Amino acid sequence: MESQPHIRDISGNTALDEAQRVKRFEERIQAGERIEPKDWMPDVYRRQLTRMISQHAHSEVVGMYPEGNWITRAPTLRRKLGLLAKVQDECGHGLYLYCAAETLGVDRSDLTDELLSGKAKYASIFNYPTLSWADIGVIGWLVDGAAIINQTPLAKCSYGPYARAMVHICKEESFHLKQGYEIVTKLAQGNSAQKEMVQESVNRWWWPVLMMFGPSDSDSSNSEDLMRWKVKLFSNDSLRQRFVNGSVAQAKAVKLTLPDPDLRFNEESGNWDYGTINWDEFWQVVKGHGPCNRERMRMSRKKHNDGRWVREAARAYSARHPEK
Ligand code: 3HC
Repeated sequence: MESQPHIRDISGNTALDEAQRVKRFEERIQAGERIEPKDWMPDVYRRQLTRMISQHAHSEVVGMYPEGNWITRAPTLRRKLGLLAKVQDECGHGLYLYCAAETLGVDRSDLTDELLSGKAKYASIFNYPTLSWADIGVIGWLVDGAAIINQTPLAKCSYGPYARAMVHICKEESFHLKQGYEIVTKLAQGNSAQKEMVQESVNRWWWPVLMMFGPSDSDSSNSEDLMRWKVKLFSNDSLRQRFVNGSVAQAKAVKLTLPDPDLRFNEESGNWDYGTINWDEFWQVVKGHGPCNRERMRMSRKKHNDGRWVREAARAYSARHPEK
């Protein structure tokens, strides 16, 4: 094979060095090594990670709004404490993930600007309204349940800071799932109004939760990079299928019906086949035209402005106390 021309780049390295560095990088990934912030990495790897981790962080922060909506209306002090703890956890997850993103050389304020300008995405699921207390239980059960399926593999991904953040976050997500499923169980075993309320909530949330796993594999523009470099260990569809398989038994256990007439067990594959996802709805919500997108962005901008004095005070303090 003809050797590649030794085109010199500005740093004096030959283009071949670049190819060699990518080759060595991919050998490290295939060997299961963790990539750390100071390691060499291809620009595309850095860009993909910055995109994915920052959008994950945005999702955690925006995800506080639908649930926070019910803190003052929780039915008991115990439920209020559980919901408060969960919402505080989500905030912490966001901070964790912004810190992980900053290890890639980006500034958190730039990431926030991208969210507030609408340039960056956050999870579509948080653009749906929380209309009843049952939604808080269903979110904990299904939304956080989907998050655990999606995020557990990320704790083994190739980028060190992201993987380590995920270990901590997944532990807290399992508490979120448990508290949500307990709320759902109590309502499903309650009076007829409570049974009706929780079934109505499942009917509203089930399909948007399936969309959390992203577009079908054939429409997933980023998966090839992310799977080649072991950021994503499983495809969107395979994680979605894993979630459906686990949810059917959980729904049955509390006598709730999943709103999918096409749901049926496939003896051959061992999976629960499910109906067609409304991808038009998905892309509409991703593009900013969902039920609550405008409200979530209004709230995000308001909260950012409300917090301006805190950021300014913190900067003034650190300017006067550089030693701290
Ligand atoms: N909502 C909004 N946008 C979505 C989306 C969703 N559910 N799924 C995909 N998209 C966007 C992608 O961001 C991408 O757009 P971009 O290139 O402009 O960023 C486009 O649709 C194509 O999707 P891809 O499948 O190519 O994108 P990814 O390979 O990044 O896969 C993902 C999407 C599965 C969400 C992946 O990014 C991922 O696993 N991210 C980490 C986990 C995460 O962010 N979860 C969000 C929920 S956070 C949460 O659940 C908090 C919990 O406490 C409740």
